[in-house]
Amino acid sequence: RGVGSVTADAEIGIIGGSGFYRFLTDPELVTVDTPFGSPSAALALGTLAGRRVAFLPRHGTEHQFPPHRVNYRANLWALRAVGVRQVLAPSAVGSLRPELGPGTVVVPDQVVDRTSGRAHTVYDATGPVVHVSFGDPYCPRGRRAVVGARADVVDGGTLVVINGPRFSSRAESVWHAAQGWSVVGMTGQPEAAIARELALCFTCVTLVTDRDAGVPGDPTDGEPVTHAAVLEMFAANIGRLKDLLTDAVAALPGPETDDDATCSCRRVLDGLTLPFP
Ligand code: ADE
Repeated sequence: RGVGSVTADAEIGIIGGSGFYRFLTDPELVTVDTPFGSPSAALALGTLAGRRVAFLPRHGTEHQFPPHRVNYRANLWALRAVGVRQVLAPSAVGSLRPELGPGTVVVPDQVVDRTSGRAHTVYDATGPVVHVSFGDPYCPRGRRAVVGARADVVDGGTLVVINGPRFSSRAESVWHAAQGWSVVGMTGQPEAAIARELALCFTCVTLVTDRDAGVPGDPTDGEPVTHAAVLEMFAANIGRLKDLLTDAVAALPGPETDDDATCSCRRVLDGLTLPFP
């Protein structure tokens, strides 16, 4: 199935973020090559909540790829090549709002891309000219599955993606908050856009690890975030996040509901001649 000699089979992809390098029990490791080079790691294929899942640690198994060096195109292409059509993409983010404290899970419904210099499209140089719609960047069905899995998951908000690898200045952080944006991360783009370009249902699941450079109105008026604090907070919440993702996987629609009228992610390329199966 899929591209080249890949014969492995999965239905749902999970892309682990900072501090999230392994998930499935006794997975089959599958190395996939893509037209864009190698993904961040071998795909780990296994069963979760009765569904066939491919897990991929975004930053590599040893966290060797910083956000601006992640091969987003290869990662998503590889997932598609083993059969994945729905992706859950957890990541660590900073909060821009006082009410979103560390430990909060936010499922954004919008994104602002402030990255630059990253390979951001699979339709480059050769192949068809494709301009995908991105007004609603995330899959409504995937979002519903995650939001419905826990009462305390925050439904909606705007993720602003900075280029990094440095964190924001206070002025940048105040500006992001003043725009009404909710959380700030470094990996949400071009990942979501490339997923859409590959007609994948993509759901961003953010875990708040910090209050960025000090959220205006935050009663604790905190110190600017450090990488150590992000990793520590992520580690403290990884069990909760895995439980949430497991229940969300169980709640995702099956392949037989592909033509559900509430989700057009998989039809975004209809009518085009594509460079992949
Ligand atoms: N990832 C986790 N916390 C972050 C922050 N404050 N800014 C950008 N990316 C982050």
